[in-house]
Amino acid sequence: MRVNLRKFIIFFGCFSLIWVVVSYSSSYSPVYKPRSSVSEIEMEIDRLQQKVQNQLSDSYSLLQKVRLHLKKTEERNDESAKDSQPAWNEVDTNQNYKNPVLPILVIACDRVTVKRCLDNLVKFRPNKETFPIIVSQDCGHNETYHVIKSYTDSDPSITVVRQPNLSEIPLPRAKVKFKGYYKIARHYRFALNHVFVGLEHEAVIIVEDDLDISPDFFEYFLGTYPLLFKDPSIWCSYKNDWVAKFQIRFDCNAKRYFLPSISRFFDDWLRDPENTDGRACIRPEISRTYSFGKIGVSKGLFFDMHLRYMQLNMEFVEFTKLNLTYLIKDTYDENLTSFVYNLPEVSAEDVMSSTGTEPAVRVSYSTAKTYQRAAKKLGLMDDFRSGIPRAAYRGIVTCFIRNRRVYLAPSYEWTKYDPTWG
Ligand code: UD1
Ligand code: MN
Repeated sequence: MRVNLRKFIIFFGCFSLIWVVVSYSSSYSPVYKPRSSVSEIEMEIDRLQQKVQNQLSDSYSLLQKVRLHLKKTEERNDESAKDSQPAWNEVDTNQNYKNPVLPILVIACDRVTVKRCLDNLVKFRPNKETFPIIVSQDCGHNETYHVIKSYTDSDPSITVVRQPNLSEIPLPRAKVKFKGYYKIARHYRFALNHVFVGLEHEAVIIVEDDLDISPDFFEYFLGTYPLLFKDPSIWCSYKNDWVAKFQIRFDCNAKRYFLPSISRFFDDWLRDPENTDGRACIRPEISRTYSFGKIGVSKGLFFDMHLRYMQLNMEFVEFTKLNLTYLIKDTYDENLTSFVYNLPEVSAEDVMSSTGTEPAVRVSYSTAKTYQRAAKKLGLMDDFRSGIPRAAYRGIVTCFIRNRRVYLAPSYEWTKYDPTWG
């Protein structure tokens, strides 16, 4: 198009020149007419000169029009070139996340209802190559093993491995009540070693056997995967050399992480600032998993109080098509703090009783006590892990109450968590 226009301009220029010459020669007719005087000839020359001038300026304004048109076309071309530029998650020399293999590690024990979990994984899995399913079974429960086998026998992209050490874990009497958690930690350690060391995978998505997943569960992990490479402040490489290449992400229930030295309570281990090393985890605001395992190791401790009310997202979000660069630390932190601290401040009581019309408000806290008081009032879990209020980011806990977004935020300038809280 651009080349054609150039040709057109050149052609147009030549054409105007020829036109000028031809019209000049036609108006300067060679037919001889006797002139009465020199002044008359001069006037005639002036008239002709004027005519040529007019024609030239007409040509010039036409040329201007063509130039303007050309410029507009070029701008349009630039725009469409911009549109066809690669997306944020494609522009990179790092090829690792372009066609990732993200194995699903299912943690199973003695619940035959692992069938429900596997059925959903198979149902929503967009393709087998990207998401092979690895079931790791603890507890030596044969009935459960047979359920799992019925899947692995018919689909080579689903495999099973069994945790071989079924011995009791010796514990001091005071800790016997936590036996289940120690077993879970032992299992995680085995299963993750199998995935990362045995099978040499680069990342993993962990699904416990009592989780339902949302239709866009796989899409969520595929879409957010590039962030692990773009932003090292998001759970990623760990200190040990041999794990440095692993990218880790922890997401409330749907988990993706690596843990080399879990001792007990592995989820607390993940929250420990010594392990997170200042890195954060991203999570979807609406959960992509739902726990249906009321009877479990924590004996439904939180199930009736909190878990059963959790909403499983049912709307498919095309995460891979979204520009998620807003989640990158520097931009995100700046936007979040300036947004939150510009909101009208209200009390937790106001939130629960008033019918305010502001779409978002801020509730302040300054100590562990005032945090807990406000969290209770708002119906949030009010506990701390390593001084971090549950689900907080930079001390800010976000929730949605009575159609309003509520930010429970420190009243002081937050710099780090205080491990003595809680
Ligand atoms: C709770 C957490 C869970 C976490 C666990 C340990 C919720 C809803 N659940 O477990 O995410 O992993 O604490 O911190 O917050 N399992 C074994 N071996 C055992 C017992 C259980 O591998 O000896 C497996 C189960 O199959 C399951 C997982 O460990 O995949 C958690 O066990 P579960 O019984 O569901 O305990 P929760 O109370 O949910
Ligand atoms: Mn559970």
